[in-house]
Amino acid sequence: MEKLKARILGTGRSLPEKVLTNADLEKIVDTSDEWITTRTGIKERRIAREDEALSDFAIVAAKNALDMAGIKPEEIDLVLVATVTADMSFPSTGCIVQHKIGATNAAAFDFQAGCTGFIYGLSIANQFIKSGAAKKILLIGGEVLSKITDFQDRTTCVIFGDGCGAVILSAENEEKGILSTSIHSDGSMADFIEMPAGGSRIPASINSVQQRLHFIKMKGNETFKVAVKRIESACRESLEKANLSAENVRWFIPHQANVRIINAVAERLGWPQETLYINIDRVGNTSAGSIPIALDEVVRDGKLKEDDILLFSAFGSGLTWGSAVVRW
Ligand code: UT7
Repeated sequence: MEKLKARILGTGRSLPEKVLTNADLEKIVDTSDEWITTRTGIKERRIAREDEALSDFAIVAAKNALDMAGIKPEEIDLVLVATVTADMSFPSTGCIVQHKIGATNAAAFDFQAGCTGFIYGLSIANQFIKSGAAKKILLIGGEVLSKITDFQDRTTCVIFGDGCGAVILSAENEEKGILSTSIHSDGSMADFIEMPAGGSRIPASINSVQQRLHFIKMKGNETFKVAVKRIESACRESLEKANLSAENVRWFIPHQANVRIINAVAERLGWPQETLYINIDRVGNTSAGSIPIALDEVVRDGKLKEDDILLFSAFGSGLTWGSAVVRW
C-alpha cells in the first residue's frame, strides 16, 4: 500500500475548431496585436461555437486519454472534472461525461479551484489512489471561458481561451507517477478574479445581466504581482517534498496564464528556456484546461523520456495556487 503511486497512463485533449486571433480582437475592442503579444505572449486562442459546452470537449479528451492508456471506460472508478465553466450548475459535468463515455462503474463530481484546478485534481486523485479508494481515475481539466468572457472588456477578453485536457491515473507499484503535490489558497483575495452573479449571492436577474455581472472580472495587475512569488514557493515546496531540486526538472509545464509570469518563475528557479513548455501563443489562458492540454501536446509530440521529472504549477481564482511533481 505504501508504495502505491498514481501514474499517468494516458493523456488527451480537445479544443474548439474556431480560432480567434489578435487581429480579430482588434476589431472588437481597443487593443493591438503588439500589446497582447508583448504583455501576455498570446497570438491566438480557440473559441467554442454557440452550441458547444464543456462536456463536448471533455468527452473527446477523455476518450483520447482512455485510448492512449489502453483501458476500458468500465475500469474507471472515479471521474473528476476541474472547471469553472461546467455545462450547467448541476448536475455535474462529471456525471454527464461518466454516462456518455460509458464509465458505468465510476463515481463522478466536479470541483473548482480556478486555474489551479488541475493541480488540485492531481492532489485529490493522488489521495484516492494512495488510500486504495480508487484504482483508475479519469481527471479532466477544461473550460469554455468564452461563455463567461466580456467581449467589451479589453483587460480580460484578450487573455482567455477554450479547451479541455484529460489524464488517466492508475494505481501502480512503481517509482513512476505523482511524487508530490502542494496546494494552497487564500480567500482574502477572492475578489481578484471572480464572476459575481449567478450564484446564491446575486442570483440571475435582469439587473445582474444589465450590469454584466455574469462575466469574469479580474484585477489582472494585482493578481500578477502575487502570482510569481506564490508559484515559485509552491514549486520549491513540491520539489522538496519529492526530495528533488530545481536542477532535476526536465520539463516545467506551467499553467499558461501569461508568458511573463512563466519566464519570471523560470528565472527565479534557474531553468533554461528549453525546460519550459509554452503553448500560450496558440491557445491563450484556458484556466483548468491549460496544464492537461500542454501535457498532452508534450506527450503526443514524443518529447518525454522514461523517468523525466515534470513539474506542474498553477495560480488562479480563489486565490489558489499549487504545484505537482511527476516522474514519467
Ligand atoms: O490565469 C489565472 C490567473 N490570472 C493571471 O495570472 C492574470 C495575471 N495578470 C496578467 O496576466 C496581466 O496583469 C494582464 C495581461 C491581465 C494585464 O497586463 P499588465 O501588464 O498587468 O497591464 P495593466 O493592467 O497594468 O495595464 C497597463 C495598461 C493600462 O493602461 P494605462 O493605465 O497604463 O494607460 C491598461 O488600460 O494597459 C492597458 N490595457 C490594454 N491596452 C491595450 C489593458 N488591457 C489592454 C489591452 N489592450 N487589451
